[in-house]
Amino acid sequence: MNFPILHIPGLGDGMTIALDAVLHVLISHGLAIGAITMVVLFQALGAAGRGTFWTRLGRSMLGPLVMTTTSVGAVTGVGIWFITGALAPGGIGSLIHLFFWPWFIEWGAFTAEVVLLLIYYSLWDRTVDTRPRLLLAVGCGYVVMAVLSGILISGILGFMLTPGGWPSGQSFVQAYFNPTFVPQCFLRIAGGISIGALVALTWTAWTFNGPAEERGRALRLCGFVFLAAAAVTAAAGVVYFSRVPQTYLTHWIFAVATSALSQRPELVILLNVVAGLVLVLAALAGVAKRATLSRVLVIPALVLSVGFISEFERVREFVRGPYLLPGYMYANQIPLVNNLAAEQEGTLPGLHWVREVRTDTAPAARSGQALFDANCAVCHTIGGVNDITQRIAGRTLEGVNAITSITESLVPFMTPFSGTEQERLTLSTYLYSLANKDSRPAPQLQKEKKQ
Ligand code: HEC
Repeated sequence: MNFPILHIPGLGDGMTIALDAVLHVLISHGLAIGAITMVVLFQALGAAGRGTFWTRLGRSMLGPLVMTTTSVGAVTGVGIWFITGALAPGGIGSLIHLFFWPWFIEWGAFTAEVVLLLIYYSLWDRTVDTRPRLLLAVGCGYVVMAVLSGILISGILGFMLTPGGWPSGQSFVQAYFNPTFVPQCFLRIAGGISIGALVALTWTAWTFNGPAEERGRALRLCGFVFLAAAAVTAAAGVVYFSRVPQTYLTHWIFAVATSALSQRPELVILLNVVAGLVLVLAALAGVAKRATLSRVLVIPALVLSVGFISEFERVREFVRGPYLLPGYMYANQIPLVNNLAAEQEGTLPGLHWVREVRTDTAPAARSGQALFDANCAVCHTIGGVNDITQRIAGRTLEGVNAITSITESLVPFMTPFSGTEQERLTLSTYLYSLANKDSRPAPQLQKEKKQ
């Protein structure tokens, strides 16, 4: 490995990335694409002479949206780069090399998005009555850029789950226009608009002060937009998952329910159906212009839509199992080809950043920890999320050493161990002593005698 290895204690790497990334997806999809599109729609209706309340409603939403997207939205976006760059430099490095141009163009689109949003916001009060079409053009330009950056990123995320013909063909076109690219574009954009419509419904139900008739019209529009966008999201979701390999899909219940509840798949399905129903009911309350009912239903609906987004992203990240980049690199950033080579040459010599401290008492502890860091710690912590000591507890050293030889078949989303037999024994000894709170040097394997 060319980079020093860093892992987050306690919370674990996956959970750390997830907390930042899910917050970013919520804001970038739900607010930056969805809710601001609703604002532009409201402004268009005002400009078309359908009532000045549309413009007032749009303006009241715009300030908080500009603040949230350009602060928390942008910071969590940079956060994804920072965290993945620190925790998975090998993986992110491979992705940048492969997808330099889409990422570079996406950066341009994102910059244009921010600039247009700030112009839209600062021009609003001066031009909304005098030059509404000019303002609308800026708003539409913003929406185009926001959608474009969603599309650009979908090719890269799709590649990480369904690389299509890339592992053998190695062409950019195969990698980027992979089997889930198109359905994922629709899924992300329509999903963002659904959440945006729900946010606008919430805002209208709770803050609109004006004649009940006008509020009713706004509620109805939000409800309709939600239902239409949610129907597209659901259809795109069906196509998307139909293109994910079946071997991955078998893990989805486990991804959502974890081992604790994975034996009760009906619970997960029931919860999803009920959540979907609550969302549809909230939208229907809007369509029926029922302000009080909308006010009550939007609260659970918002919470559940956060749940849906988290669930989708977790499933997408989890089901590809042992791979960071299927067909090329394991989740612990060890390329598949290096895994074979490591059986002969070992993993430790390649860990240039590990300072060997060889004391007489525990010569193998440092090596054992380094092997754990390189092989397992991307998914297991010591004493925190997915605690390795709990997984090892109660086993003999021989038992632990048997497990480390078959990790990939023990749980299908675990990576195989990379290294020589002696290194595996060193890791097993380290894990055994962690679980049993004693420390002893790794036994040396007998060198096989040539016959
Ligand atoms: C890609 C992520 C990932 C990597 C890498 C990984 N594991 Fe796991 N491991 C898991 C998950 C997820 C579970 C299941 C946790 C649960 O049951 O909730 C698991 C479970 C286990 C278990 C318990 C299995 C059982 O059937 O009781 C052991 C033991 C274990 N891992 C050891 C290791 C060792 C040793 C390594 C490194 C050589 C490793 N794992 C690398 C994700 C990983």
